[in-house]
Amino acid sequence: MIIARTIEALQEAKKTLQGSIGFVPTMGALHHGHLSLIRQAREENDHLIVSIFVNPTQFLEGEDLDSYPRREEADTRICELAGVDILFMPSIDQMYEADELCIGAPAVRGYILEGEKRPGHFDGMLQVVMKLLNLSGAANAYFGKKDAQQLALITQMVKNYFMDVNIIPCEIVRDDNGLALSSRNVYLEGDEKNRALCLSRSLKRASKMVMAGELDVEAIKKEMLEVLKEADTVEYVAIVDREFNALEKIEIGNTIILVAAWVGKPRLIDNLWI
Ligand code: PAF
Repeated sequence: MIIARTIEALQEAKKTLQGSIGFVPTMGALHHGHLSLIRQAREENDHLIVSIFVNPTQFLEGEDLDSYPRREEADTRICELAGVDILFMPSIDQMYEADELCIGAPAVRGYILEGEKRPGHFDGMLQVVMKLLNLSGAANAYFGKKDAQQLALITQMVKNYFMDVNIIPCEIVRDDNGLALSSRNVYLEGDEKNRALCLSRSLKRASKMVMAGELDVEAIKKEMLEVLKEADTVEYVAIVDREFNALEKIEIGNTIILVAAWVGKPRLIDNLWI
């Protein structure tokens, strides 16, 4: 595995590759969720590039940029064992210059739900993903469905900017107890680990209601909020179509149910595709 810390080193390393490139961008602190993306990308492409970059422009003032878990040694080992060809770990200076041209999230879809709670987050996320996709030269890039709105916006960016890369959505990976894997789960302490399960439980409750024939969005949200009482603060429960338009009735095959809540230190998100 080649470790590239500069753009130049990445371009040099890419010259050793012949065939299709799969790409998995990450912010590190790799867990089984990342690993499932890496495995899928490994299987579906001749070569595999993974990036680890804690992108400052997608963190808001007061968020956890400084304390975001960083585990370079363990992550490098994981990538090596997973058959990664190039691990790209650039510094901030390599990725940004002072007076940058900026990409903006779309005015509606980029400023609801996560975009409303974290204004500016998606601008920074899209900015870095555009750079990383261009640098990787990948045919296929892999993103988890857990960040459903992120995935939708990246897919839209690729479409709107006529970028030559396939965005591949990957399933959410959960602990045995149902908790969706996230690098921020390490912040959970004591009883918060149990209380955090209310997010996935609320989605399970929603799923059972839909299976029993309940399609009314307000009725489902009400039940979910009951289950979510174990969280410290619920930021939103939303039921939207795959384009992130609000729904009044569940549309089977075209619906995402999303939840965001604080449990102790971390802000957790989870969702269910129906
Ligand atoms: O989902 C993430 O880890 C990040 O938002 C991403 C896509 C790597 C961009 O920094």
